[in-house]
Amino acid sequence: MRVLVAGSHGKIGRRLVGLLAEHGYRPVAMIRDPEQAAELRDLGGEPLVANLEGDLEAVTEGCDAVVYTAGAGAGSGAAKKETVDRQGAEKLIESALRHGVGRFVIVSSMGADAPDEGPEQMRPYYAAKRAADDALAASGLDYTIVRPGQLTDEPGDGRVSAALSLGRSGQVSRGDVAAVLVACLGDGRTVGKTFELLDGDTPIGEALASL
Ligand SMILES: NC(=O)c1ccc[n+]([C@@H]2O[C@H](COP(=O)([O-])OP(=O)(O)OC[C@H]3O[C@@H](n4cnc5c(N)ncnc54)[C@H](OP(=O)(O)O)[C@@H]3O)[C@@H](O)[C@H]2O)c1
Repeated sequence: MRVLVAGSHGKIGRRLVGLLAEHGYRPVAMIRDPEQAAELRDLGGEPLVANLEGDLEAVTEGCDAVVYTAGAGAGSGAAKKETVDRQGAEKLIESALRHGVGRFVIVSSMGADAPDEGPEQMRPYYAAKRAADDALAASGLDYTIVRPGQLTDEPGDGRVSAALSLGRSGQVSRGDVAAVLVACLGDGRTVGKTFELLDGDTPIGEALASL
């Protein structure tokens, strides 16, 4: 199964490419900087150079699934949230539809459920994430929307808390987010699901089965 990973050189993305390769998937590692290709190849990915702010018409061709884990980043302004987090995701959705790619998993964020209730400086980010989520949910693709809390660089222990609404904020390790993304691809019960994700005590498979 060929899986296009948007944001493959990111902190989740690199973990995800390695895990996908370990699990027998064929990750296509989308990068905007060709100098990152060797690193992604070493992780088991097939590098593909494309910019989320550019033309994405052909990038999903020959893929069976897409995982979007890109992001403009904390240091960027509202304009980049719009062109990367929203429009980049929307263009990938359109590309997936055009090329018959059935499955699409997106890394959203806690707070995207109610952008106007977030802190002022976070609102453009949450709004962009929400718009991308809504476009995906309306697309007809087999979608899963994953909304992690604040990310940490811990490797993860395979245990999480997941629910449509967890009713609290908190942290989740990038290692566990990557493991959840792989588990979603392998578990058809996550199709059509949107859920928040934090560190927790429940094994990932069990947590996803309970959604
Ligand atoms: N930080 C948090 O606490 C938090 C919480 C909830 C959700 N999230 C979400 O989690 C996801 C991944 O987080 P992370 O920590 O792995 O992020 P990260 O390390 O900043 O990685 C983001 C990746 O997106 C890529 N990217 C940015 N603009 C691009 C463009 N125009 N074209 C192609 N690629 C582009 C970057 O490429 P370069 O390597 O070229 O820069 C980078 O590889 C994001 O969707 C983020 O919004 C984050």
